[in-house]
Amino acid sequence: MHEFKYRKNEFCCEDVEILSLAQKFGTPLYVYSYHTVVDHFVKLKTAFRSINPLICYSVKANSNLAILKTLVSFGAGLDIVSGGELFRAVTVGCPVSKIVYASVGKTSYEIEEAIKRRILFFNVESIPELENINCISKRLNRITQVSIRINPDVEPKTHKYITTGKLTNKFGIDFKSAYQIFLICNKFSNIKISGLHIHIGSQITESVPYVSAITKVIEFVEQLKRKGIVLEYLNIGGGLGIVYDEETPQTAEKFAAKILPLLKKTKLKIIMEPGRFIAGNAGILVTKVLYVKAAVKKKFVIVDAGMNDLIRPALYGAYHQILPIRYTLNAIRSSEKVDIVGPICESADFFAKGRRLLPLKEGDYLAIMGSGAYGFSMTSNYNSRCRACEVMVKKDETFLIRKRDSYEDLIKNEIMI
Ligand code: LLP
Repeated sequence: MHEFKYRKNEFCCEDVEILSLAQKFGTPLYVYSYHTVVDHFVKLKTAFRSINPLICYSVKANSNLAILKTLVSFGAGLDIVSGGELFRAVTVGCPVSKIVYASVGKTSYEIEEAIKRRILFFNVESIPELENINCISKRLNRITQVSIRINPDVEPKTHKYITTGKLTNKFGIDFKSAYQIFLICNKFSNIKISGLHIHIGSQITESVPYVSAITKVIEFVEQLKRKGIVLEYLNIGGGLGIVYDEETPQTAEKFAAKILPLLKKTKLKIIMEPGRFIAGNAGILVTKVLYVKAAVKKKFVIVDAGMNDLIRPALYGAYHQILPIRYTLNAIRSSEKVDIVGPICESADFFAKGRRLLPLKEGDYLAIMGSGAYGFSMTSNYNSRCRACEVMVKKDETFLIRKRDSYEDLIKNEIMI
């Protein structure tokens, strides 16, 4: 599932000891396994080979250029949500015919840029947005291809902050309104509606919500067909869950077995937008213990990474497995319950609460697992902390893929008056 393993007692990424990376690059440090990234992409591609979908990796999950370039070199397209992500996509040489663009709030500037670049299509999330794209296309004298993002109103059984396909969420357009759009689509003279898009949420561990959303969409496709409206694409979004704790998410094969029969029925070109499935377990955050503080009611292990480096526990109460990068059996027996916390001035700045871990002491290193997706991409400079550096390991080779921020980086855009 991933290439982070103990060899003897040393925790390794592929053929490289994490300890040597921590000593060389310092901490906090993101470490990614090249082969894990590639393997997850290939697993999905293989599971769906009978329909040969366009797999557009969701840039937001981890937008480091080295990761994007790796995936693009294996044939991936990219799912973007901003002008900045378009810039990254173009920088790594992603063919524009493999770029799809979602977001409920695309600005006119961003829309114009993407039209000029000739991306495959926009996933349109509202009628005013459709009108805006039409207007900009007219001005540029272009016909722009779009997909309508449907909000299928299904429960994906995941955290409420990452649920996106219910009618109470801001995303997509309900079936009734979407139907109205198709009825009046002649009004949009410079738009070609060529597909439908859904993305019902993230960290979804079973196929049931997908099956119900896709079934609803297929009924809609049939309804449109009866009106003489024929589409070309169905984009089923991302959302595939991974293992963080004790969840048993479906494998790519099992997922494919459940939804392939439905997808084949549509005869449409299928697009997928996985993010977490590809990057999540391909990265860890390495941090060093600064102090062990035995307080009145709890023992706190204070580490040098903070919520600015990995916000998922603070934001979603997310569980991340935490492993020592040197493993000793003796210590295992005398494990104790601790809170692993960062240095930031917020009580939400934690990575684990009441976690049974080996006795830890100053200078020990820990690996926060499953940090490859929505880890670095959600970092900030809060508390004027320098963002971590990132390295990619490929067998026994190590590549620095992002330098740690310097103090200069922190202030480079600021102006004293
Ligand atoms: N497509 C669209 C339109 C999306 O909005 C997303 C994610 C994806 C694809 C990729 O979803 P994935 O395969 O990674 O589940 N920060 C949260 C996750 C937010 C997901 C946002 N949208 C977290 O850390 O759990």
